[in-house]
Amino acid sequence: MSLRLGSFPVVVGSSVDAARFILKAHDLAFIDRPRMTSGRYTGCNYSDVLWAPYGAYWRQARKLWKTEILSPRQLRSHEHVRDEEVRAMLRDIYDQAAAPAVVLLDHLLMANLNAISRMVLGKKYVVDGGGEGPAAAAATPEEFKWMIDEFFFLSGALNVGDMIPWLPQIKRIKRLGKRFDRFLERVLEEHEERRRREGDGFAAVDMVDLLLELADDPNLEVPIQRDGVKGFTLDLIVGGTDTSSVTIEWAMSELLRNPDALTKATEELDRVIGRERLVTEQDIPNLPYMEAVVKEAMRLHPVTPLLAPRMSREDASMGDYDVPSGTLAFVNVWAIGRDPAVWGGAANEFRPERFVGSSLDVKGQDFELLPFGSGRRMCPGIGLGLKMVQLVLANLVHGFAWRLPDGMAKEELAWRRSSGCPCRAWSRSKPSLSQGCRLTYMPAHDADAFIECHCIPVTFRSMRRANVIHVLGMRN
Ligand code: HEM
Repeated sequence: MSLRLGSFPVVVGSSVDAARFILKAHDLAFIDRPRMTSGRYTGCNYSDVLWAPYGAYWRQARKLWKTEILSPRQLRSHEHVRDEEVRAMLRDIYDQAAAPAVVLLDHLLMANLNAISRMVLGKKYVVDGGGEGPAAAAATPEEFKWMIDEFFFLSGALNVGDMIPWLPQIKRIKRLGKRFDRFLERVLEEHEERRRREGDGFAAVDMVDLLLELADDPNLEVPIQRDGVKGFTLDLIVGGTDTSSVTIEWAMSELLRNPDALTKATEELDRVIGRERLVTEQDIPNLPYMEAVVKEAMRLHPVTPLLAPRMSREDASMGDYDVPSGTLAFVNVWAIGRDPAVWGGAANEFRPERFVGSSLDVKGQDFELLPFGSGRRMCPGIGLGLKMVQLVLANLVHGFAWRLPDGMAKEELAWRRSSGCPCRAWSRSKPSLSQGCRLTYMPAHDADAFIECHCIPVTFRSMRRANVIHVLGMRN
């Protein structure tokens, strides 16, 4: 599909062939990002990885992320952190059993944020109640949720403020940029202070320490300035919080609509893990059905339905199509994930079985399934993202017995999803979670409905935000 938005020519690739054209055959032509206002104010002046223009700085950043910041060794060294935060989340959910409703997404966001904060920043900077003195939080959970929601809303697939100069939108982006900057300055100052204090005895314990060390490295091809350290830190925190949480929420939502799949997942967990303990990362390779559930949720509900925007640097041609340089390009992985030509007549149905025994994967090699994108610009956080999604989801299913509230049919769940759907969960017989826990689960997102209604999800993120507010309203 070819469009024109303001002064930008735009192409949207909505088939496997078009995805292969943009992300593989012409990956280098479409490797740039557009210079959008969000990149200036929330991407630390285009110095983060997401908004950095293609060039030596971005190439070096990707290399450092792969070999240092998100290397398999780094990820392994923080396994206990992820494990502890997942257990803490399960306990919190259990403790709220008496509440009339629990918004699962809130718990998912906090668990992912706490895990990523401890890995990246060395401690939790977002604390309930704000704290006091040196332990004071850099942001409260409410503030941080606002920051994340604003971030995704304002850097949504297309920001209308970039097409048509629109002052209120730009003011909002600047305000958010300032709030992020305050947060990041506080983090950096604390880390620098420790480095000064410990002098020669200083050893890096978290990813910000590592970034500050890298920034001091005189052998780097392109120096990393303070903005770069802040930008990378922000990418790690924002990239690792919302995406994983929303994916897990969709997977839970689909399992609740499809009791057979939920039963199969539960049976697999009972068989492989047993009822005496929770799931660890080591168990994941032994849970093929759970892996299929995650792939199926990502196929139907990719968190970025159009991937991140690309900008062509040179002309590219495919068949009868000529795409000139300077064209904004999107890949509609949402449409590809539901294309009956690829997935058959049941393309819109949640059937994890389609992935059992299949070699189709989410790692960017199979153009039918691209929740993390593909090519040189594909998501560098895939390893961490998958670990968190699989671990949290498996434990939610293993730790509680979920079902819809009495009198509610599963068809209603689909219908009521956009207005928040209540459903109940009971804890299963586990030593760490005693029985009889009653919860209400409410998925808060409905990006699909938006896409179905509007075809071009220009601001699909706004729908999600509206839903969050709506669901919070329903709790009262
Ligand atoms: C379920 C989890 C996640 C999903 C579904 C996801 C998805 C994506 C997608 C679709 C893109 C755009 C790729 C493209 O343009 O082709 C992307 C880019 C990116 N993601 Fe993720 N992501 C996830 C987790 C993470 C995590 C955990 C991090 C960091 C710790 C992260 C950091 C980034 C960054 C920095 C980029 C920009 C890459 C670049 O422009 O070079 N993501 N992600």
